[in-house]
Amino acid sequence: MSGEVQRHYDSHLAPIYVWMVGDVVAALQRSRDFFAAAGLKPGAGGVAVDLGCGFGLQAIPLAELGHEVVALDFSAELLGELRARAGALPVGAIQDDLLNFPRHLTAPADVIVCMGDTLTHLPSLAAVNELLRLAVANLAPGGLLALTFRDYVGAELKGTQRFIPVRSDNQRILTCFLDYGDGFVDVHDLVHTRVAEGWRQSVSSYRKLRLDWHAVVAELSDLGLDIIRHDTERGLVTLLAKRPAA
Ligand SMILES: C[S@@+](CC[C@H](N)C(=O)[O-])C[C@H]1O[C@@H](n2cnc3c(N)ncnc32)[C@H](O)[C@@H]1O
Repeated sequence: MSGEVQRHYDSHLAPIYVWMVGDVVAALQRSRDFFAAAGLKPGAGGVAVDLGCGFGLQAIPLAELGHEVVALDFSAELLGELRARAGALPVGAIQDDLLNFPRHLTAPADVIVCMGDTLTHLPSLAAVNELLRLAVANLAPGGLLALTFRDYVGAELKGTQRFIPVRSDNQRILTCFLDYGDGFVDVHDLVHTRVAEGWRQSVSSYRKLRLDWHAVVAELSDLGLDIIRHDTERGLVTLLAKRPAA
């Protein structure tokens, strides 16, 4: 199933991802504020891992704080965008599956993030649990794990609510349609692009997990992390967890 997700990004979403985010300066600032509120201080040093980094909304602020960032994604296009935006910042942009991240580490990580609804892209709950297990195993004592993902369990949209206007301008319209199943949601992204004769429509779909944040909290606690923040705001779950200091 992760092949389907990669195809979706390669052919459909990656080329418009930066446009979809809209105000990138504001989005980067939100990430900086998020990390400051999580207690990360400038000049801390150490390794940070960004799982599903996209074009760097988390990797760039982490590098600005002084971390050596190991940033993984399978989209060559988004990694190219990240390299261009990171410039001289210490970001290693690596094209690989998230689950392979330990291969790219030479020291335990001080921070691991998987943000922006990346976790739900994994093919199964077993894959999520494996990623969480690897994250905890590769986190230094006192290290921070940050997860944000969409709550497709507690906040199921009904009927026409499932048509989500993501972004539009006079050249392009992106609408997302959610089709709920048992344990998953099929996401259909409709892109209308203005052409000489009018509008051209393209549609591409992929499957996301309906991930129950209670289960994620329970798993992280079982793995020995202290949960320091969990909340859901406008359908987005935020979890912060720390590995106890040695
Ligand atoms: C919703 S985007 C989030 C990107 C970024 N964290 C942000 O907040 O803008 C999810 C990203 O994860 C990547 N991705 C999803 N599943 C992956 C996997 N199994 N291995 C590597 N990258 C993956 C996608 O290519 C995409 O860039």
